[in-house]
Amino acid sequence: MAKEKSSIDENRRTALKIITAASVAACFASFLNVLKSLGTAQISFPPWPRVKVINIKDLKVGEPVQFNYPLEETPAIIIKLGKPVPGGIGPDKDIVAYNIICQHLGCIVRFYKADDPENIYKGKNVLYCPCHGGWYDAEDRARVLAGPPLCELPMVKLELDEETGDIYAVEMLPPAIFGKGPTPCHSDPRWDLIGGELVGGEE
Ligand code: FES
Repeated sequence: MAKEKSSIDENRRTALKIITAASVAACFASFLNVLKSLGTAQISFPPWPRVKVINIKDLKVGEPVQFNYPLEETPAIIIKLGKPVPGGIGPDKDIVAYNIICQHLGCIVRFYKADDPENIYKGKNVLYCPCHGGWYDAEDRARVLAGPPLCELPMVKLELDEETGDIYAVEMLPPAIFGKGPTPCHSDPRWDLIGGELVGGEE
């Protein structure tokens, strides 16, 4: 009788071992499947928004208009400079847009016309940060002219609807907004292809 009971216990132990091993194997297989699916997952980013900024007939030379892009709280300005500039759009290739958050510590920069009495760069349209005296060249992709900022202001890529005259913001060009990118910041090859044509190349 005792021998029979011992045999039953042994059978139970064996069955339990098999069930446990099968459960562990099933869990491991599920875990592998999860890892596999993670490994093949594609990280995708949403496209830049396409936002109407203004109609070209409402732009006047030297009078910037503020708008927000790419977020509702991200300030930028669009300016008609009155002379062709790198990345400029429109019939005169003179319309550009920049983010206006200073690349140093985030103050808001202001635009100075070439003949503004406050402008120390006479004859050149510039952007100036009053916090620590950062100067950016509005005629050349907002490159840093002077002061503590290390990176230019990010440019907003614009598109003109030739039929309606509406101007759209369609993308931010590098560097990152209020970023601390490496110096020099013009290293991204897309700088050579803005406005649909080859510009710059003097670096
Ligand atoms: Fe603009 Fe310092 S925050 S120069």
